[in-house]
Amino acid sequence: MKLWGGRFQKTTDRLVEDFHSSISFDQRLYKQDIKGSIAHATMLGKVGIISPEEAAQIAAGLQKLLEEIEGGQVEFDIAAEDIHMNVEQLLTAKIGAVGKKLHTARSRNDQVAVDIRMYLKDEITEIRAQLKELIETLLDLAEQHLHTVMPGYTHLQRAQPITLGHHLMAYTQMFLRDRERLADCYKRADVLPLGSGALAGTTFPLDREYTAELLGFAEVSDNSLDAVSDRDFAVEFCAAASLLMMHLSRFCEEIILWSTGEFAFIELDDAYSTGSSIMPQKKNPDVAELIRGKTGRVYGDLTGLLTMLKGLPLAYNKDMQEDKEALFDAIDTVKGCLLVFRPMIATMTVRQDNMAKAARGGFTNATDVADYLAKKGIPFREAHEIVGKAVFYCLQQNKNLEELTMQEYQELSPVFTDDIYAAIGVEYCAAARKVRGGPAPEAVQQAIARTREKL
Ligand code: ARG
Repeated sequence: MKLWGGRFQKTTDRLVEDFHSSISFDQRLYKQDIKGSIAHATMLGKVGIISPEEAAQIAAGLQKLLEEIEGGQVEFDIAAEDIHMNVEQLLTAKIGAVGKKLHTARSRNDQVAVDIRMYLKDEITEIRAQLKELIETLLDLAEQHLHTVMPGYTHLQRAQPITLGHHLMAYTQMFLRDRERLADCYKRADVLPLGSGALAGTTFPLDREYTAELLGFAEVSDNSLDAVSDRDFAVEFCAAASLLMMHLSRFCEEIILWSTGEFAFIELDDAYSTGSSIMPQKKNPDVAELIRGKTGRVYGDLTGLLTMLKGLPLAYNKDMQEDKEALFDAIDTVKGCLLVFRPMIATMTVRQDNMAKAARGGFTNATDVADYLAKKGIPFREAHEIVGKAVFYCLQQNKNLEELTMQEYQELSPVFTDDIYAAIGVEYCAAARKVRGGPAPEAVQQAIARTREKL
């Protein structure tokens, strides 16, 4: 028997039953659904819409049901459509007719909205905790590599010497922003829609503030139409998750590149790498590649949600049932990726020798030679020209800038003196960039301290 069967003469076609049922995926909301129902019943009892005894009976029955579901003793019924009607049906089977009073002054439209908000709030808290751990891991690593010199790149061409600590700290800034965005998204999810009914509120004198207090919502919604049709918080989460995945993906791209024989800047731990079924020598960065790949599905979740919502008239429409799989997929993907990404990074071996060697090649100190001339009074644009010529000369002679003799330097410009050699060692070049936000060990150390404070 359908909970809404009264108006119908025929039973639902089996195909429709399968097609519109959401229990296969919304059953993960059972805890939120039951807690929301307990709060609703408690509030109904408090204001006298049902008796306090009835409220207590309903709450006890729901609590018992929660334990049974958690003990794996409950099988959900496809014909009952979704988690909301399954819970109500199971409750009534357990406590009898009084269970039928639970849905007084409530619709599945405000019920599902409250369930997803509760669920998302918990998940955001978990993901923020995962991000905090990841940032802490990166801060520790950055601290270990304050003096590890490597080339910084633009256009994937060696540009200027930096430190690995500095490079790692770039990612901590992204993940800090991700944490902030999630905290902001949490605020919008933290509004109670329950009490909005199907769309137009209810004639019953509900105490919505009390329900909000029971469920730990900071605010109560102020428009019933918006409250049942608002999924902005889900979109916002998927947007924040997309950015987070984009950051992970860019990091993974570098991990993949750095693991190549050509770069050989790092080696991933065996426990976080995989082999080939045919090529015995292979050690592949599959984990990093999968994270990069899974970024696409989170973008898909975001695009799917936005597209699903864009044409919907107020208020609830069944299209909105499609919100859950996208949201759940984004949550699961982000959590799964963070879970494996952190230890992968924490266990990698850094090949400091190769990083330093790469930094010494590619004329990464050319800007420093130009800066040297500029500091001696030569206009920077002229200095740039002189050093450009020096690089061209070096390429012909197969030399580095630090290998030019004093005589060769003098021919380029009489301003050069012996102190040029000290000014262009790559370690010195990285260490001299002490400006706030720069790669010098002191600057990175200060950035680490500020980031620790923000956490
Ligand atoms: N399973 C539905 C969903 O997820 C619950 C709300 C159904 N409301 C309705 N009027 N059919 O959106």
